[in-house]
Amino acid sequence: MERPKLLEVKDINLTFGGVTALAGVSFDVREGEILSIIGPNGAGKTSMLNCINGFYNPEMGEITFEGQRLRKPDKQLSLKGLMFVLTLSFIFCGPLYVLFLIGLLHSVFKTSAWIPGTPPTKKLSGWARASSYFGAILTSGLISGIFYLLTGGSFSIYFVLAVIALCLPGLIIFMLVLRHLESPIPPDQIARLGIGRTFQNIQLYTGLSTVDNLMAARHLHFKSNFVEDALYFGRSHHEEIKHRQAVEETIEFLEIQPYRKTTVGALPYGLRKRIDLGRALTQKPKLLLLDEPMAGMNVDEKEDMARFILDVQEETGMAIVLIEHDMGVVMDITDRLVVLDFGRTIAEGVPDEVKRDPAVIKAYLGE
Ligand SMILES: Nc1ncnc2c1ncn2[C@@H]1O[C@H](COP(=O)(O)OP(=O)(O)OP(=O)(O)O)[C@@H](O)[C@H]1O
Ligand SMILES: [Mg+2]
Repeated sequence: MERPKLLEVKDINLTFGGVTALAGVSFDVREGEILSIIGPNGAGKTSMLNCINGFYNPEMGEITFEGQRLRKPDKQLSLKGLMFVLTLSFIFCGPLYVLFLIGLLHSVFKTSAWIPGTPPTKKLSGWARASSYFGAILTSGLISGIFYLLTGGSFSIYFVLAVIALCLPGLIIFMLVLRHLESPIPPDQIARLGIGRTFQNIQLYTGLSTVDNLMAARHLHFKSNFVEDALYFGRSHHEEIKHRQAVEETIEFLEIQPYRKTTVGALPYGLRKRIDLGRALTQKPKLLLLDEPMAGMNVDEKEDMARFILDVQEETGMAIVLIEHDMGVVMDITDRLVVLDFGRTIAEGVPDEVKRDPAVIKAYLGE
């Protein structure tokens, strides 16, 4: 019997300027399985994880975790809204709405790549977007007021009316459009929902000890407030005990007792990778995303890591999405595989099928 779906990825499209990172990628992750994403360098594997945990905002597609949509950019509705606003804007005040449209384009395409000098994945926050709208509306009001004065009017009720006349349609349109534009759930909230991850480039506090790094990972589960923390009283005290227990479980599980007090920056690469896994495990996620957890490791370290991954799956029933280039390990520990090439899925299935797939052999595995 097939296990229930935990994560559903449907038709994800992601581009960076002219580069297509993901083109119509779809797959499911079932409860308790290890699903590997493989493919050549630049195939879009890391980008896929970044879409799942909210770092990147795909232009199209839908990701659902435990039946809850993590984001849903509705391009069609946004474009309809854009056309509506364009028409009204040009009727009411023509080119003065240019700034307003900049804010709107931001929301529609969820990227500022087309503004020179901004990083391609920088997204505007809700407040920044709202203020860009308000700024644009007020600016257009003021400009038209000034225009009115320059063309012989005087600073009077007409000026105020001009501002209101320009503000009102903009505000109404803003309210209408805003309802249809959804932002992605931010990464910290996605982590709270139960999606943990490790990174291709280890993300740890190098100046802190192993224990402190793992404690920091528990932060998303802290419920105590500032006063309780300052007095170390009530929830603060109970939570600290609970979080320390979780940290100790991870330390024992990953066999890193000897390094518990060592500053992470002073540890060798293989151990730092293991602690990075510990950081994700300590959060006790339901789905764990691992981005090349064995990269740069020697054979023994890889074996240890593979054993830990299998133990996690067996002991906790956690579902795992694994990106890895070592095909020996991948084929050994994986339940199912998704193969990406230039952002497209070229194969999907159990290891034995995928290994023999001509398209996979040609694009990645070789003869
Ligand atoms: N933030 C970004 N800005 C611009 N382009 C990006 C960004 N992130 C990824 N890309 C591009 O998207 C494509 C896919 O990159 P990605 O890192 O997802 O590949 P990958 O499959 O993880 O590769 P590797 O095996 O080398 O880690 C590449 O062409 C990459 O240059
Ligand atoms: Mg990568």
